[in-house]
Amino acid sequence: MGEKRRIGLLTSGGDASGMNAVIRAVTRYAIYNNLEVYGFCEGFKGLINNDFKVLDLNSVGGIIDRGGTILYSARSEKFKCREGQKAAIDNLKKNKIEGLVVVGGTGSFRGAHELHKQGIQVVGIPATIDNDVAGTDYSIGFDTALNVIIDIMSKIRDTASSHERIFVVEVMGRDSGIIAVNTGIACGADYILIPEIKFDLAKIANEIKHHREGKRHTLIIVAEGAASASDVASSIKLLAGHEVRISVLGHIQRGGSPSAMDRMLAAEFGKRAVDLLLEGESDCMVGIRSMKIETSKFEDILETKKTIDEDLYRLAHILAL
Ligand code: F6P
Repeated sequence: MGEKRRIGLLTSGGDASGMNAVIRAVTRYAIYNNLEVYGFCEGFKGLINNDFKVLDLNSVGGIIDRGGTILYSARSEKFKCREGQKAAIDNLKKNKIEGLVVVGGTGSFRGAHELHKQGIQVVGIPATIDNDVAGTDYSIGFDTALNVIIDIMSKIRDTASSHERIFVVEVMGRDSGIIAVNTGIACGADYILIPEIKFDLAKIANEIKHHREGKRHTLIIVAEGAASASDVASSIKLLAGHEVRISVLGHIQRGGSPSAMDRMLAAEFGKRAVDLLLEGESDCMVGIRSMKIETSKFEDILETKKTIDEDLYRLAHILAL
């Protein structure tokens, strides 16, 4: 019996709930297809340092419901230069790894694309709570983050309504308002402030002032990429003359057990990624569009900025009237 063919797997960038479910799916489906799986630790850093563990059926047991990633994750500056990439490629070759699965966001796929250009077969699985990767309607971790946020928002609403208060809640989204728009609509926020659309705090403050009679509390969601909760709160307080409370959700949004949807996506994305490697495909990412599992080329993803759904943004504000 000859040596088994071998693939590599790594998680990179900000962790996202469901990454472990992806590790499990890729590993078990690869083993089912008679492949061996090397899991590299701390993303691309693990490739550079040749830091890996061989993943077997048991090593990915009991992780489907755990947030974070058992392979650890990192953003590697060293991998951005040729020297780092060369070390990574040398290690992949030394370990006879024929194909690599990269789980992460757009930054990670930039790295994966570089590997492809230098002769490595590589496919991507989108995982970031920001859901800002083009070529897929959903990234792993986004749905869980939304559920974490709406759970917290219900609690904030309880206290906001009891004290008839204005609350500004800051959610993640470095360059994107996608989390803010989706949670805003799901929690019935009164205002959603995002980097993609200009907002007028004077107008909002004025509306709050005049609505106070009928509306006894106000919930404002702000994406971190648009402004800080404390700046928004100071302006509203100054302009509307009401007390404002803030809540910055931070990394709470990245943790927790993955939602059913993220676990389902993990299974389907994991399977398709391994299939793509077996078919000899490279330089592409698995995704879901209009409820269908599809693939896109890294080049297209990297050149496209995912936009927010402006209709959804408008609808959120209509429904909050
Ligand atoms: O990209 C995911 C994300 O959670 C962003 O929303 C956020 O701005 C960033 O990561 C935070 O990164 P770090 O965990 O390195 O502070």
